[in-house]
Amino acid sequence: MNDITAAVAALKEQLGDRLCIMGHHYQNDAVVAHCDVTGDSLELARRVPGVDAEHIVFCGVFFMGESAALLAKPGQAVHLPEPGADCMMSLMTPAGLARRVLEQLTATGRRVVPLAYVNTTLGLKAVVGEYGGAVCTSANAETMLRWALDQGDGVLFLPDKHLGRNTAQKLGLAPDRQHILRLNGHGLINPESQPLERPLLLWPGCCAIHAQLKPGQAAAARAAHPGCRVVAHPECRPELIERCDAAGSTSFLIKEAARLAEEAPGSTLIIGTENNLVDRLAARHKGRCHVLSLGRAICPDMAKVTEAKLLATLTAIAHGTAEPLTVEAALCGPARRSLTRMLEVCGQ
Ligand code: 13P
Ligand code: SF4
Repeated sequence: MNDITAAVAALKEQLGDRLCIMGHHYQNDAVVAHCDVTGDSLELARRVPGVDAEHIVFCGVFFMGESAALLAKPGQAVHLPEPGADCMMSLMTPAGLARRVLEQLTATGRRVVPLAYVNTTLGLKAVVGEYGGAVCTSANAETMLRWALDQGDGVLFLPDKHLGRNTAQKLGLAPDRQHILRLNGHGLINPESQPLERPLLLWPGCCAIHAQLKPGQAAAARAAHPGCRVVAHPECRPELIERCDAAGSTSFLIKEAARLAEEAPGSTLIIGTENNLVDRLAARHKGRCHVLSLGRAICPDMAKVTEAKLLATLTAIAHGTAEPLTVEAALCGPARRSLTRMLEVCGQ
């Protein structure tokens, strides 16, 4: 055990029940080893309301910490070891621009329900809550899109066009019933020339980390490892997902590796997602299932959270000098509505 690892362990011991460390699966192994709770975005959001600790230290990117702060109990403090770790995709939907687009869409006389991927800012979630919409994660996007399509005349899915298209494909919603919006900094470009009557309108955002994985890599993997199974995260391009055997959230990918290790020893599983997770699964199932990465995909923001920064956060908590995450009070009500609507629709 190195000095940092030992110091984190000692502070965890000292803080005891007052502390809960939560971490996303994309965190590095040294950080994950200290987490009391690990999960994908959905699991982490679900677990927060049940945590009683005075301090929640959230190892992940900023929007995940904000969601935790929204769902935390009054008086509970949420801390981010690295507040500068920001999901790049979450910044692709400025709240003001989304509001303007919703105003333009509503002006056509249709009731368009916004459905926001959880990878969005608090301000965006508040706009979504105001417009009667909800949040979704990659684990429940299908359920939530079905729900949203039943609510009004159309759905505005934001910000991930790839997740939106992959989910629509699962629901059997044909590409000619979808439209990727053409936008500029002021709103829709020439609304009258866009097919806004389609039931699924997609914000033109995506995760650059997952989008760098290409369909040709699935073909190359199959050629190099005949009989292998190829799976990927639905933030990947639809053209890649089409060539995979299955796609699903981080939890799905974890279960898939465990299932194959159990049911098909010696088989090869190729996974298209963030490499920290793939490497961890490769180590976990070594000797039973060959888990390989489809290609390089490293989230630089997730990587900003380190064991040393976790130590600094715990030290500050122990000394009473930590500065917890604060969320803008005016945004909390509507943003919480959009998150709790997801938890209600999905039966917690
Ligand atoms: P999950 O919903 O699978 O946790 O994904 C979150 C994320 O940021 C993926 O890039
Ligand atoms: Fe955001 Fe992509 Fe990083 Fe996930 S992998 S946190 S979606 S930038």
